[in-house]
Amino acid sequence: MARRRQIYEGKAKVLFEGPEPGTLVQYFKDDASAFNNKKRGTITGKGVLNNRISEYLMLRLGEIGVPTHFVRRLNMREQLVREVEIIPLEVVVRNVAAGSLAQRFGLSEGTPLPRCIVEWYFKSDALDDPMVSEEHITAFGWATTQDLDEMMSLALRINDFLCGLFLGVGIRLVDFKIEFGRLYNGDDMQIVLADEISPDSCRLWDLRTGDKMDKDRFRRDLGGVEEAYQEVARRLGILPEG
Ligand code: C5P
Repeated sequence: MARRRQIYEGKAKVLFEGPEPGTLVQYFKDDASAFNNKKRGTITGKGVLNNRISEYLMLRLGEIGVPTHFVRRLNMREQLVREVEIIPLEVVVRNVAAGSLAQRFGLSEGTPLPRCIVEWYFKSDALDDPMVSEEHITAFGWATTQDLDEMMSLALRINDFLCGLFLGVGIRLVDFKIEFGRLYNGDDMQIVLADEISPDSCRLWDLRTGDKMDKDRFRRDLGGVEEAYQEVARRLGILPEG
């Protein structure tokens, strides 16, 4: 681990300086946290599974023309990504009421939403990631109206595609969180999908039984967390070798 300069350490991942300028190495840890770090634990093998699942989903999204930071997987726990300037927003897309939305509006979990809902949260551990409106985002300069349009349109395309992909393997995509970054190339700037997409950042329910196959198993002490992540990888046809 001492071989590369560490750029950033998050709750579930570490970013190291990459082998070429403009690249980073994203390392996936087994550490799990929930409720803004109030609950912590370890899920054995989670880093390996999330590295593979996120690789798979980013590649499939890339194939349909969604720009991403993903370059290639390097090994069991690391992937090479492009260095981007992270936009300090968590973009949540919801298809079915669950989690904080169910709580806020007094809906029972599992209630289908009239249409998918996109929400913006300001990334700040100190403030517990408060929900923000487009007004806050543009007024405080976190993103421009054009950036917001681009992120909204990418978020909806990503949702459409992932809903279908998961449906094909018997999984309901209830909601998920994504992050975007700015990729600079001379005077050009492109907004790309960054971070990860994995059972840590999605709610995935078995289509037949309704069983949770995501981090809610850890958040709610349901047990079988590693097995659930493994089952997601198995259904996607990407169980890690070895
Ligand atoms: O908790 P809430 O219902 O707002 O979460 C919505 C979705 O966003 C869930 O899939 C959850 O896993 C994800 N999320 C996340 N990181 C956060 C907050 C939510 O990945 N900090």
